[in-house]
Amino acid sequence: MNSDKSIQYPMQRFSVAPMLDWTDRHCRYFHRLLSGQTLLYTEMVTTGAILFGKGDYLAYSRQEQPVALQLGGSEPQALAECAKRAEELGYSEINLNAGCPSDRVQNGRFGACLMAEPELVAECVSAMKQAVSIPVTVKTRIGIDDSDNYEFLQRFISVVSERGGCDNFTLHARKAWLSGLSPKENREIPPLDYSRVYLVKQEFPHLTVAINGGIKTLEEAKVHLQHVDGVMMGREAYQNPGILARVDSELFGIEREIPQAAAVIEAMYPYIEQELSKGTYLGHITRHMLGLFQGIPGARQFRRHLSENAHKAGADVEVLRQALAMVTEKSS
Ligand SMILES: Cc1cc2nc3c(=O)[nH]c(=O)nc-3n(C[C@H](O)[C@H](O)[C@H](O)COP(=O)(O)O)c2cc1C
Repeated sequence: MNSDKSIQYPMQRFSVAPMLDWTDRHCRYFHRLLSGQTLLYTEMVTTGAILFGKGDYLAYSRQEQPVALQLGGSEPQALAECAKRAEELGYSEINLNAGCPSDRVQNGRFGACLMAEPELVAECVSAMKQAVSIPVTVKTRIGIDDSDNYEFLQRFISVVSERGGCDNFTLHARKAWLSGLSPKENREIPPLDYSRVYLVKQEFPHLTVAINGGIKTLEEAKVHLQHVDGVMMGREAYQNPGILARVDSELFGIEREIPQAAAVIEAMYPYIEQELSKGTYLGHITRHMLGLFQGIPGARQFRRHLSENAHKAGADVEVLRQALAMVTEKSS
C-alpha cells in the first residue's frame, strides 16, 4: 500500500546504478520484484547503437518500470533522437553518462571526459529536454585528473544547470583518472569524498542531487539522505540483491510485506519460461540471482548449482527449482 509519505520523495531517492553487462533487462525484472520503488537504470547504451545498431537496445518489460535509460554520447541531435524514442517507449528518465572513464568511451568523446566540456554537456541536455518531457539527468564524477577540486565541480554544475537546464545530478563521489587506470580501478582507487557532493546540494539547493559510490547498507543510505536527495547503489545492490527487499519500507516509508527471497525466485518462473520460449538462455537470467541468499544456509549450494547447470543446453526452470530447494531444505 502506498502511503502518502512516498509521494513527496523524488524518484531518485533510491536507485540501482547503471552497470554495463550487469543491469540488463533480466536483472531489472528481478530487482523490481524485490523493490517496487527503487529507480532502476539501464546499462549505458550509446546513441550509435540505438540509431545504427542491429539489436533492439531499448527493449524492456513494462513490469520493470520505473526505468531510467542511460545514454552514452555527446552529439546533441543524436541524443535528442534517442531520448525521444525512449520516451515513446515509456522510459521514466533519460540519464547522460558523463562519468565513465573507459578508453573506448573517451575515443567517442563521451563519459567522464565530458566533465572537461560542460558547455557541450549543457547543449546535449538542452537538446534532449527540448525533445522530451520526462526528466533529463546527468551522472558524473566529482572531478577528473588534476581537475580535482570543488571549484571545477561547481563550474560544471553551474554551466550544465544554468545553460542546459539540467536540474538533476547523480554524483559518483570520486574523481576519475582518464588515463592510467582501468574502469575497475577507477571505481576503487581514487578516494571517496562525500562532503564535496553534500556541498553541491548546499550551494545548489534547487537541484536534485543524488550521491553514489561505496554505499553498502540502507543505514548508510539514510545518513546520506540527510544531506542529499537520493542515493544510488551499484555493486552492493547487484552482489547482494536481498538488500533491495527493505528499500520500500525503510527508505520510502511504504507499508508492505518484505518480499521473501524464495518467493521472489518463484515469481521469476513465469518470466523465465516466457524468455526461454523466445530463445533466451537460463543462465543469462539466473546469473543476476546468484547473490540473493547471501548469509543464508544453503546459499553456496544454490550458487554452485546454478553456476554449474544454468548454462547447459536445454536448462530450464527446473534447474532453478532444484537450486532453490537446496536453500529451503537447509533453512527449514
Ligand atoms: C560492472 C560495472 C559496470 C558499470 N557500468 C556503468 C555504466 O554503464 N554507466 C555508468 O554511468 N556507470 C557504470 N558503472 C559505475 C556505477 O554506475 C557506479 O557509479 C560505481 O559502481 C560506484 O557505485 P558503487 O560503489 O555503489 O558500486 C559500472 C560499474 C560496474 C561495477
